[in-house]
Amino acid sequence: MVATSQTTGEGWSSRSAFILAAVGAAVGLGNIWRFPTLAGESGGGAFVIFYIGCVFLLGLPLVLSEIFVGRVGQTDAVGSIRKVAVQSGASPSWSIFGGIGAIAAFLIVSFYSVVAGWVLYYAGVMGWDFLQAIMSGDPFRGALAGESQEQIQQRLGDMFASPGLLLAMHFAFMGLTFYIVARGVSSGIEKAATYLMPAFFVLLLGLVIYGAIEGDIGDAVAFLFTPDWSKLTPQVMNSALGQALFSLSLGVAGLITYGSYIKENSGLGATSAMIAFADTGVAILAGLMIFPIVFAVGLDPAAGPTLVFQTLPFAFQTMPGGALFGFLFFILILVAAVTSSISLLEVPTAWGIGERGWSRPKSSAIFGGGAFLIGIACLLGYNVWADVRPLGFWSLFENTDILDTVDGFTGKVMLPLGALFTSLFVGWKADASLLRTTTGLSPAMFGLWRFLIAWLCPLAVTIILVTGLFPSILGA
Ligand code: PHE
Repeated sequence: MVATSQTTGEGWSSRSAFILAAVGAAVGLGNIWRFPTLAGESGGGAFVIFYIGCVFLLGLPLVLSEIFVGRVGQTDAVGSIRKVAVQSGASPSWSIFGGIGAIAAFLIVSFYSVVAGWVLYYAGVMGWDFLQAIMSGDPFRGALAGESQEQIQQRLGDMFASPGLLLAMHFAFMGLTFYIVARGVSSGIEKAATYLMPAFFVLLLGLVIYGAIEGDIGDAVAFLFTPDWSKLTPQVMNSALGQALFSLSLGVAGLITYGSYIKENSGLGATSAMIAFADTGVAILAGLMIFPIVFAVGLDPAAGPTLVFQTLPFAFQTMPGGALFGFLFFILILVAAVTSSISLLEVPTAWGIGERGWSRPKSSAIFGGGAFLIGIACLLGYNVWADVRPLGFWSLFENTDILDTVDGFTGKVMLPLGALFTSLFVGWKADASLLRTTTGLSPAMFGLWRFLIAWLCPLAVTIILVTGLFPSILGA
């Protein structure tokens, strides 16, 4: 790769614009769909507390590290790492991990758009149902009136069985993602975040209050915060660590890319802390929104990935105002998913602009189009290609369909690798005075950060990687 990186000249219009966009990138399906799913499956409290530890001891130092690299580099991830390496007297080959991150982001957005497409379909179903509730003169009735629990659950299977429906939803969501990214950093990504994130927080608070009033908040709080340490098995710790990386958007060079659009040096440490707090706060609020509803109706919190698509719609049926709040719930997830998918597509797009010299529309079209095609393979894996096992030769992915293979490979292999490289590079290679002046941390905070990033992160992440790849080590 030739060193042709150029700054694109694009940037955030203010510090708060960057924070909104970065929080938007972090808050996504990971918070509202994956976190409650994992917390439910892993038995609640112990998982949640261990997760919070991972976020602040490993995630937060990595967030600051990625933003640091982007802030200094001022260009795409590969070019930014190269620049920090050169300024620190390290080998420019470190930039390879920026390329791995861009590939991971590209792969993640392909299946992320498919899952967001399911949400889009459910938003449509619930929106239509709410419209009918209004027409029937009873806008505050429960959702999906007259449908049996079986019918409600069957809808998910019917959706999976229809490639045309899945394709249409995937197309619509990827199209929207592409449209925003193609418009650029300040007039596309930043604008979307400034409209969507406030709407997101209003919706989230509204739904949490609804859950507290109509649902069983006491049981939910007990479930989420009372630890039963016997449930903290190595597998649970492993998935908590992986979830922390995914939820904070780490390991795919996303925050390097977003950080490269920061123009001034101001409190990068405080900014990173805000991102970590906001992301974790939203995950916990999502739990406090979903579990009161699940418990009120006496449903199973450990339903797994179908919790949001089968358990909740049925719960909304039995609750007053369920038609309206069910609809708002899926709009909420959709909003969160859009601000994350644009950050994913932005990573390879910035690479095409910075390293290949492509125009932004061309670069986003190439990667958006490519991810759309991979997404098609993922969605066909639910019907016509249901028997395809892309990595079937690897025992870890023996019985894994196409979407779960892309998800598992990126999450278990590529994200931890990206995080490992980031921590080794920033902890051991980056020039200390460059780190100090760019981050502006106090001496004590700086020392703590260097310790966590140089020692704890590489160790812990290596453990995730090894136990993720060789679960037999854990005796599973
Ligand atoms: N953090 C996002 C979520 O929680 C997913 C994501 C991962 C986004 C990596 C960008 C980069 O849904």
